[in-house]
Amino acid sequence: MVREILIWPDPVLKQKSMAVAKVDDGIRRLLDDMSETMYAADGVGLAAPQVGVLKRCIVIDTSPRQEGQKLLHLVNPVIVKGEGETTYTEGCLSIPGESEDVDRFAKVWVRALDYAGKEFEVEADELLAIALQHETDHLEGTVFVDHLSSLKRELIRRRMKKLKAEHASEKPGDVKKAAHHESAL
Ligand code: NI
Repeated sequence: MVREILIWPDPVLKQKSMAVAKVDDGIRRLLDDMSETMYAADGVGLAAPQVGVLKRCIVIDTSPRQEGQKLLHLVNPVIVKGEGETTYTEGCLSIPGESEDVDRFAKVWVRALDYAGKEFEVEADELLAIALQHETDHLEGTVFVDHLSSLKRELIRRRMKKLKAEHASEKPGDVKKAAHHESAL
């Protein structure tokens, strides 16, 4: 089921998500809904708080823009190591139409539970490394604009408020259509 994506600024997007005690059918349903929602919005990553659920769950699929990748479900993800530096122009499904350069680790190692609740580790570079850092940020209540200067952030905040006001009379799905960006995370 495609869920509604919260648009920043929203108080839920500022909250820290809670660890998942057990990967059960309820969590798998959430992960399925999240990947369906991500694909419907043409995104390459989505974190549970973006659909209003404060649980440490993320889905990522960078395969449209990175060779050898596939859909990843990560529950309770932890960045165990980061290396190098890179700058990437990031977008976010919760901040439609906006994109800015953000400094990140070039390479990360992340440990998480998979769809079956089994622990695994992923070594990532390029877009997958960016997506993992962007989505784990969401679980801490941080969005990419929090990495920008306050001037840039306030300009984006103003545009988002205008966008929300324009769409207030429409169905939530219409805002989603505005979300398209080549690296929406
Ligand atoms: Ni995002």
